[in-house]
Amino acid sequence: MARILITSAIPYINGIKHLGNLVGSQLPADLFARYCRARGHEVMFICATDEHGTPAELAAAKAGVPVEEFCTDMHKVQSDIAAGFRLSFDHFGRSSSQRNHRLTQHFAGALDRAGLIAEVSEKQVFSIDDNRFLPDRYITGTCPNCGYTSARGDQCENCTKQLDPTDLINPRSSISGSTNLEVRETKHLYLKQRALRERLQAWIDSKTDWPILTTSIAKKWLNDGDGLQDRGITRDLYWGVPVRKGDQPWPGMEGKVFYVWFDAPIEYIACTAEWADAHGLPDTAWQRWWRTDKGADDVTYYQFMGKDNVPFHTLSFPATIMGSGEPWKLVDYIKSFNYLNYDGGQFSTSQGRGIFMDQALQVLPPDYWRWWLLSHAPESSDAEFTWENFQASVNKDLADVLGNLVSRVTKFATSKFGDTIPAGGTPGPREAQLITDLTTQLRAYEANMAAMEVRKSAADLRAIWVAGNEYLQAAAPWTVVKTNPDQAAAMIRLAMNLIRLYAIISRPFIPDAAAAMMQAVGSDDWTWPESLESALTFLPAGHPFSVPENLFRKITDEERADWQARFAGIRT
Ligand code: MF3
Ligand code: ZN
Repeated sequence: MARILITSAIPYINGIKHLGNLVGSQLPADLFARYCRARGHEVMFICATDEHGTPAELAAAKAGVPVEEFCTDMHKVQSDIAAGFRLSFDHFGRSSSQRNHRLTQHFAGALDRAGLIAEVSEKQVFSIDDNRFLPDRYITGTCPNCGYTSARGDQCENCTKQLDPTDLINPRSSISGSTNLEVRETKHLYLKQRALRERLQAWIDSKTDWPILTTSIAKKWLNDGDGLQDRGITRDLYWGVPVRKGDQPWPGMEGKVFYVWFDAPIEYIACTAEWADAHGLPDTAWQRWWRTDKGADDVTYYQFMGKDNVPFHTLSFPATIMGSGEPWKLVDYIKSFNYLNYDGGQFSTSQGRGIFMDQALQVLPPDYWRWWLLSHAPESSDAEFTWENFQASVNKDLADVLGNLVSRVTKFATSKFGDTIPAGGTPGPREAQLITDLTTQLRAYEANMAAMEVRKSAADLRAIWVAGNEYLQAAAPWTVVKTNPDQAAAMIRLAMNLIRLYAIISRPFIPDAAAAMMQAVGSDDWTWPESLESALTFLPAGHPFSVPENLFRKITDEERADWQARFAGIRT
């Protein structure tokens, strides 16, 4: 039994994620966590909300509530939706927790002791009416290059020219519209990442088994242009982790907070401490996952994320960990994803285009979405959601192949043999062949699941369902029963065990349907099948079973057209 730590990129608090976000981190992380548990490993699966930064402040202001309250409410919303998708986090924490405050301040102190922090004076735009410094993208004005009147302080959207806020003509605050702005001098902390360049390079180079998507992004940032830059880790904001050096004040940094991308990944660790707190466990309980001097040296750590998050996880966060000089666990494997597009365009949070997690669950149960998303995960390239494809996949894979097998077998068995698994007959060459085929297919599925090959795993699983269907089609117990009831009974015994096998191995993808299948065959033994020979004779003659509710229903053409229209435009 191995010890496996799994983290999913933590979603921003300000708003509900769309299905593209879900399939880019949380859902495949859940698939892997469920699989590892099913194989008997000890798993710690962590996620949280990423609560700091200007977007959270602004969203709260727009909603007219204090930002603390906004975050508490949204955490609950996101946590309920995660449960709705059956995401099996051991803990869903909050980056605004006291644990994260303390740990972030601790890391800053350790980095400072290691000589890796520089204090730098900068000029920045201050809005007198808003009483705050404005991040570059919250300043609007006229572009000096093309005359566009709504250019942002970091870039003109119209002519794409990169700008400094001081380049703008007639600058104004995007928050209040106030033009009462001035340039003020302010001091910030920088993490001297360049000093860690060689260590980071050697570490990345040693990761020869990582997906190319992950290492290519990391190497691009290490080597492109000027290479790795020192990074500002503080901001002049109200909402965030107050800048402190461990438990001491940081002279000259009063009223400032750490940059959200500094504290967010530290929340992976802090969240595990929140988990221990929530269960009344001592610090040693979370430290054995994270401190190599306290038992974490036998942990294997996997991270899941979308490709836009890769630089932060291959460079910035490792720089924090390595630079601290303390024995914290570094990630062992980073699984990253491309983007999922939506019906000929992109999912867009700002335009409300596509399907968002709450809406998806209003339309259909979680297994339908889990199956489609995972079986079409954007692994080797971007992928696209279309309603036609979704409908076809659900109707074929789930309803026709899997659902139909379960209902056909249980209904037929009830009508011919009553409510227990029938005795009589012996398996023949057809059954032996099925066992041989399934064994090969199951071992392939296991290998792909262990390697986090999500699409290939889904294809393997589907092939296993198909093999069962083909067996039944060829064996035809409904015909055989007329001439040789004993032989039909032997087939049905096998088919009942096949349903239990499907429950166990399909559970990481479709946990609700798996539970319904397991219940139908009257078992609660989820032991992973080592030998298919014994797994397929596990339920004996005389064992009770029942006919489950329809596992999956088909999506009609009318529904498809209706949903397509409903999610095409602006989210209201
Ligand atoms: N909130 C970020 C996003 O949604 C992810 C943060 S991941 C962490 O893209 F490492 F910083 F935690
Ligand atoms: Zn312009």
